[in-house]
Order: sequence, then structure tokens, then C-alpha cells
Amino acid sequence: MGISLIALLTGCFRGQPSESPPIRVNPNMDEQPKLKPQSVSAMFKDGAGMRAPVDGTVARGHLNEDDAFYLGLDEIGKAISKSPLPIDMKSLKRGQERFNIYCAPCHGQVGDGQGIMIKYGYVPPPSFHIDRIRDLPDGEIFGVISNGIRNMPSYKLQVPVADRWAIVNYLRALQLSQNASINDVPQEMRDKVK
Ligand code: HEC
Repeated sequence: MGISLIALLTGCFRGQPSESPPIRVNPNMDEQPKLKPQSVSAMFKDGAGMRAPVDGTVARGHLNEDDAFYLGLDEIGKAISKSPLPIDMKSLKRGQERFNIYCAPCHGQVGDGQGIMIKYGYVPPPSFHIDRIRDLPDGEIFGVISNGIRNMPSYKLQVPVADRWAIVNYLRALQLSQNASINDVPQEMRDKVK
């Protein structure tokens, strides 16, 4: 009796490899009915085990109610004229960096529409320094980045909303850089420019 008990116990020492299935004292916790992701279920009318969120569900922190900021549009759906992101050194630097990554390959670093992609045969975009583009409201440029336009693809997945506005601010600075008069220079600095 003593010997057989020892033999039985050595068979189930922890850490020892074993070919036999584990002993489960209470197996109903291991085998309870459940639905794995993407599996079929007869319980629901549409046969899908995964349930869609209730209509109108919004993830926390993603209400995005501010149309001016998130869509560049006012209450009646018109493009807003001015960027909601303050034009300061911080947003311009960020915009410059993002512009040179995401826009310059086609539009060129000065926005003349002569980026490297054009040399590889891409359709040339218009220069940003023509009156029509200078006169576009900020919200419309934001919309072009977000949705693309004709031969230009959308950049909404690559460029987050705040960065799109930083790019718009920088694009305005680029336009000013190519179309400024002496009146745009502060009085005390005019000597240096002349
Ligand atoms: C892959 C090349 C490419 C990239 C990258 C690109 N664009 Fe464009 N963009 C174009 C082309 C081509 C057009 C002209 C579209 C047309 O009229 O067919 C255009 C047009 C525009 C226009 C003028 C829209 C109008 O009303 O005619 C603006 C503004 C603009 N792009 C801004 C941007 C900004 C800002 C970025 C960076 C976030 C960017 N683009 C990135 C190719 C590009």
C-alpha cells in the first residue's frame, strides 16, 4: 500500500512532462459555452456572434462635435475662413515639419508645385502662389488635406487633425513669403530688408 501510493504521487509532480491529459477536478469552468471573436451564433437573428455597437455610440473622447476644428466647416457647412489653431511659432514650426514630410514631395518645399514626384511623372499640382489658391478659405485647404481633391489623394489617415491645421498655418506663411510687400515688414526692421 505504502509503495503504490508513492508511485501514484510521483506521476503527478509538477514540472514533469506527461503524455496523459491533465486531471481536472471541476471541468465545467473550462468548458463553459462562449463565443469566440468572429464566430457564428444561432442566438442572434443575423447569425453573427459579434454584436455591433448601438447606433450613435461614440467612443469616450471621440465626440468630435466641433465642426470648425474637425471638418473646417461652419454651422451651415461653409468652409471657415480662418484656422482655429493659433498662428504662433510653435504651430508654424510643426506645420513646416509636417508640410515638408507630407506635402513637399509633390508641392515642393516652397509650394511651387515642383516637388520630386513631378520628376517621376506625377500630375503637377498648381502653385500655391496663384491668386485662386491664395484666396481659398483656410477651411477649404483643411478640407483638401482631409478629403483629397481630383488628382490629390486624402491625407486624413496620415495627418491628425491638429497637424492639418498646423500645415494650413504654415502654407499661409509660405504664401506670404512669396507675395509680401515692404508694408508687411515691421517698421523697425525695414532697413535690414532694403
Ligand atoms: C501625391 C502628390 C501630392 C501630395 C503628397 C499632396 N498633394 Fe496637394 N495636390 C496634388 C495635386 C496633383 C493637386 C491638383 C489636383 C487637381 O486639381 O487635380 C493638388 C492640389 C492641392 C491644392 C489646391 C486645391 C485646389 O483647389 O485646386 C492644395 C491647397 C493642396 N493640394 C494642398 C496640399 C497639402 C497641404 C498637402 C500636404 C498635406 C498636399 N497637398 C499633399 C498632389 C499632392
